[in-house]
Amino acid sequence: MAITHRYDVLVVGAGGSGLMAALYAAKNKNVSVAVISKLYPTRSHTGAAQGGVGAALGNVSEDHWEWHMFDTIKGGDYLTDQDAAEVFSKDVIEAVYELEHMGLPFSRLPNGKIAQRKFGGHTREFGKAPVERACYAVDRTGHMILQTLYQQNVKEGTMFFNEFQVLDLIIEEGVCRGVVAYELKSGELHVFHAKSVVLAAGGYGRVFKITSNALSLTGDLMSIYYRKGLPLEDLEFYQFHPTGIAKLGILITEGARGEGGILRNNSGERFMERYAPTIKDLAPRDMVSRAIINEIREGRGIGREKDAIFLDLTHLPKEIIEGRLPDITDFSRTYLGIDPVTELVPIQPTAHYAMGGVPTTIDGEAIADDAGTTVRGLYAAGEVACVSLHGANRLGTNSLGDLIVFGRRAGVAAAKYAASAEFEEMPADAARDSNTLIERLKSGNGKENTANIRKELQSSMMDNVGIFRTGADMERQVQIVKELQARYKLVSVTDTGSKYNTELIEALELGFLLDIAEGMTASALNRKESRGAHDRADFPDRNDKEWLKHTMVYRKSEGNVQIGYKKVVLGKFEPKARVY
Ligand code: FUM
Repeated sequence: MAITHRYDVLVVGAGGSGLMAALYAAKNKNVSVAVISKLYPTRSHTGAAQGGVGAALGNVSEDHWEWHMFDTIKGGDYLTDQDAAEVFSKDVIEAVYELEHMGLPFSRLPNGKIAQRKFGGHTREFGKAPVERACYAVDRTGHMILQTLYQQNVKEGTMFFNEFQVLDLIIEEGVCRGVVAYELKSGELHVFHAKSVVLAAGGYGRVFKITSNALSLTGDLMSIYYRKGLPLEDLEFYQFHPTGIAKLGILITEGARGEGGILRNNSGERFMERYAPTIKDLAPRDMVSRAIINEIREGRGIGREKDAIFLDLTHLPKEIIEGRLPDITDFSRTYLGIDPVTELVPIQPTAHYAMGGVPTTIDGEAIADDAGTTVRGLYAAGEVACVSLHGANRLGTNSLGDLIVFGRRAGVAAAKYAASAEFEEMPADAARDSNTLIERLKSGNGKENTANIRKELQSSMMDNVGIFRTGADMERQVQIVKELQARYKLVSVTDTGSKYNTELIEALELGFLLDIAEGMTASALNRKESRGAHDRADFPDRNDKEWLKHTMVYRKSEGNVQIGYKKVVLGKFEPKARVY
């Protein structure tokens, strides 16, 4: 028998978007609010976001929200929905001040204003030169956002259920009624009955071998949504951050280049001058990551295997490196034994961020089909969602902005809906499918092992659906994923205990990753052009005539995928060639 709970608004995920949604829902005193999280909230992956949150405050040099809007759209290779970009670029300014008033310890300029630095793709006057737009708290901006929002939630009385793994979403007749979750401490299933649910549990970087993402980022909620035959939007667009620590993938913030860091190949050449003559090392991430791989492929890589590139900070004053970039300085010293003050740091692109996800309106309402029908009572925000702000490639800092702007909008909308809605009936057997899922893994006698399948999935996704793609590689990956899905059915766990059964959780997570890989590979194979982070050698050009549209991938049954489309919302900025 599952344990039951009832809340008006239930938020799944306690990173930046979940905490912002919960906070804004909790400010509505007509509703009760709870957050379910796989981790303790302050350990959420938002804490790994380093360099800043972009907002046109103009504290260092002149800036305007229209310039930010333009950069976001151009950075997204014109797949960005322009209504979302406009709301975002305006609202993020107010949201940053709001965080400041909540007590977030931003770094400061000598005049006391919030400090701002340069970041990739952020420019003044519609592309003329880099502009200081990233508001930062040294290189711990995401960490500070998490701490601040968690404290504010505690103050507002938000209820937290920590270390609960969500296994199912209950949606009946187009209305969301709650979720089913597995409690790690006890091994018990809980049914959370709610009037509105906000999905805010992040991305799925763990589908790749080299990633900046935490172990917990396994696409659970996207996968649960997809398993219900509901669409995921633009899954083919996955961002590789140019500077992960070589071999490890741990993030070295773009803020390092914002402070003046330079990328160099094996001859010491500042090669970005050849790829993006105007903004060089501060070009958008898709372009910089491709440039790095190109240098490596053409034999100009560094290291024993010549599969990395150098990040050079040695020309910067020690006080800037240690003062403004203390975490990455420590990471480099700790993990590589390299001091960035005096030595070059070997880096390599690392899987970082999903541009696609659960399609939503600009108020976070989850979209159920190509026509834009919404699932009543269901909302999504942050990386799990696709409000189509980032288009085909997200600009650095816009993830933190997305969390606070669209997390807030989703929280407000979810609370407003819950305040006037009735609880819809929760089916008596709501926990049945989750129970079956767990029992299959615990009582099966198949001989397959989670770690082996996961390793093969991660390496093959890296090779076949990574930075550079071809139709042939992706066709091969479709088959690989099918085979791995078949083998996954033979996975059984050796630990059948109920307390903190991490072997079971890893097996469940692998199931989510496999489904995401299925949807992602199918979407990427289907899109026959190159745009933003989706680069195909067999279709090297952007093709607005046929492909200026969002992909909507649906699962009809396992391995049986259907593709639909959604219009891109255009506006002020006509699609143009992307030159930097
Ligand atoms: O480079 C960074 O600090 C990462 C920021 C982001 O992904 O927005």
